[in-house]
Amino acid sequence: MKIVSLFSGAGGLDLGLIQAGHEIIWANDFDSDCVDTYEHNIGRHIRLGSIEDIKSDEIPTGDVVVGGFPCQGFSQANRLRSGDDPRNSLYREFLRIVTDNQPKWFLAENVRGILSLDGGAAIKKIESDFSKAGYRVQKRLFNTADYGVPQSRRRVIIAGTRKDLPSALDYTYPEATHSKHGSGSLKKWCNIGNALKQIPEPDGEHQLINHICSQYKVTNRNFTGHRTTDPKKPSPTILARGNAKGGVCAIQHPKNHRRMSIREQAIIQTFPNAFEFLGRMNSCYRQVGNAVPVLFGQYLGEQLGATEKLKREAS
Ligand SMILES: C[S@@+](CC[C@H](N)C(=O)[O-])C[C@H]1O[C@@H](n2cnc3c(N)ncnc32)[C@H](O)[C@@H]1O
Repeated sequence: MKIVSLFSGAGGLDLGLIQAGHEIIWANDFDSDCVDTYEHNIGRHIRLGSIEDIKSDEIPTGDVVVGGFPCQGFSQANRLRSGDDPRNSLYREFLRIVTDNQPKWFLAENVRGILSLDGGAAIKKIESDFSKAGYRVQKRLFNTADYGVPQSRRRVIIAGTRKDLPSALDYTYPEATHSKHGSGSLKKWCNIGNALKQIPEPDGEHQLINHICSQYKVTNRNFTGHRTTDPKKPSPTILARGNAKGGVCAIQHPKNHRRMSIREQAIIQTFPNAFEFLGRMNSCYRQVGNAVPVLFGQYLGEQLGATEKLKREAS
């Protein structure tokens, strides 16, 4: 399918969709490091600039519009969490483009907090807005650990199918492949200890790119970014936010002797080792932390393929 990608970041979601066999025909981000990284690894179809300055008719019409609209205003970790937060206005940009360009499907990724924002009023408003725009809307909360990602990362995927398409073509969410303990056909969650077992220390001999890490001192004060990491469990969520001291809130290595390197966090986000992040260290950490795990993006994309197959069978 031909896909338009908004708020594309470094391209975690887009790479997953490409791996599932789709084509990204247009992408956008206003952060120049993200755009450099995206062009370097994925392609030159990304446009630098704020979506607020791009008219809907400047964007090609694809089969699908995808995007993780920025979530700071919706994040449970953010005390400014409010429906009035100006950063939530970017959601309205996503809505504008879907409304104007009428793709067959859209997929929007967001943080778990979106479900409880304003006592559930925000998500109801989002559903009603997209319904008015002509879409049947579904939402589901996922943990990417259930899809073989060695990271517990809870994200909501809102999916819309244009109302003129038969309901048989409604987007169907991917089924889990893993569970906490593994049972039946489900494998056991992948853990961070195994995921990083073969990775040498950043100051040792290696050929890994982006294998540098924050020197921010590790202290265990039992809050996000300051907790020991259990090597037998999936990694805690890789974060994009800062530590309020100019650094980034990187998660501890499973041996708990230092923070993870950019490459290690990228591995936990299931980026291939050849994927190179460009920009200063904090920017690279942020690009990694903001991404949809590539493997999860691929599962989401394979379902778009399944929908398309169904459509061909129906016609
Ligand atoms: C959560 S990240 C998306 C990550 C991406 N889906 C991935 O998988 O790598 C949101 C992105 O929105 C971008 N962004 C924020 N405001 C924007 C704006 N006004 N116009 C375009 N991009 C914007 C940020 O730079 C950030 O890269």
